[in-house]
Amino acid sequence: VLERLEAAGAGAVVLPSLFEEDILGVAFTHHEMLSRGSDAFGEAQSYLPEIDVPDPVDVYLDLVRDATDRLSIPVIASLNGTTGGGWVRYAAEIEQAGAAAIELNVYLVASDPGDDARHIEEQLSTLVREVRSATSVPIAVKLSPFFTAVGDVAERLVDAGADGLVLFNRFYQPDFDLESLSVVPSLDLSTSADLRLPLRWIGMLRDRLGCSLALSSGVDQPADVVKGLLAGADVVMTTSSLLRHGPDHLGTLRAGAAAWFDEHEYESVGQARGSMRRGAVREPDAYERANYVATLRSAAARW
Ligand SMILES: Cc1cc2nc3c(=O)[nH]c(=O)nc-3n(C[C@H](O)[C@H](O)[C@H](O)COP(=O)(O)O)c2cc1C
Repeated sequence: VLERLEAAGAGAVVLPSLFEEDILGVAFTHHEMLSRGSDAFGEAQSYLPEIDVPDPVDVYLDLVRDATDRLSIPVIASLNGTTGGGWVRYAAEIEQAGAAAIELNVYLVASDPGDDARHIEEQLSTLVREVRSATSVPIAVKLSPFFTAVGDVAERLVDAGADGLVLFNRFYQPDFDLESLSVVPSLDLSTSADLRLPLRWIGMLRDRLGCSLALSSGVDQPADVVKGLLAGADVVMTTSSLLRHGPDHLGTLRAGAAAWFDEHEYESVGQARGSMRRGAVREPDAYERANYVATLRSAAARW
């Protein structure tokens, strides 16, 4: 699949994540088994149980090596976690395996009412700082849109060492099964309707942050690629569209976006990039609250 994506024109690929839970889970299993072995006695005293749990880090490093060997475009590895600590040192091994950059996905559901926002945000900054000191490759932090002050959090993560931000992570909301009365995982692929959230934030933050911005969530059609670039994204990313339409859809996205730029007589993507960011449009308030009032009034008048 990665080779097909490269052939279809991918500028870079981000590998699936290595999860903090996987690393810590295996560390826990190893510790458990070794302590059980040390309790044994008699002729079993020298016996240590066989550990046949595949180490997810080894599996992941093989994936990074294999992908970098086969592709000539940059291969970006992904670490997924929320707290700093020992697992972060694997960023160094990922770099050695050939990753051109690391995407750090901070997928955090802050459900404890006793955990205040500043504490959570500090935890994320610490995590970014730790990854920054473990590796010298560029780090992109993939953020959730659910912060009270997205711009402030973004700026502090950049100060902590993020070279780029990926806006945004997509949160999967579990559903209820009314027959079994259980909470069930649910993963819906995004559609172009999901583009508006990252589009708006890229447009609003473009002039305010000194880092690269990647748009993620809801890029399904060539028009979505164009919109992301006009908002000021350095790159646009897509997952759902490739699962829905297949890897070759990437060629359709590129060709459709290129055709739009030609038809509208742009000489380069650089010329178009950011031309609809908040600071460049005639009515910057349209990005913020004034647009909310106007939207409600015009909708109310229609109904
Ligand atoms: C099947 C599937 C697997 C995913 N696996 C990961 C993952 O391993 N790590 C990660 O950070 N995001 C993962 N994501 C999230 C995507 O990277 C992306 O943030 C999200 O799908 C929104 O982008 P889209 O609208 O282009 O799909 C996954 C998404 C899907 C649909």
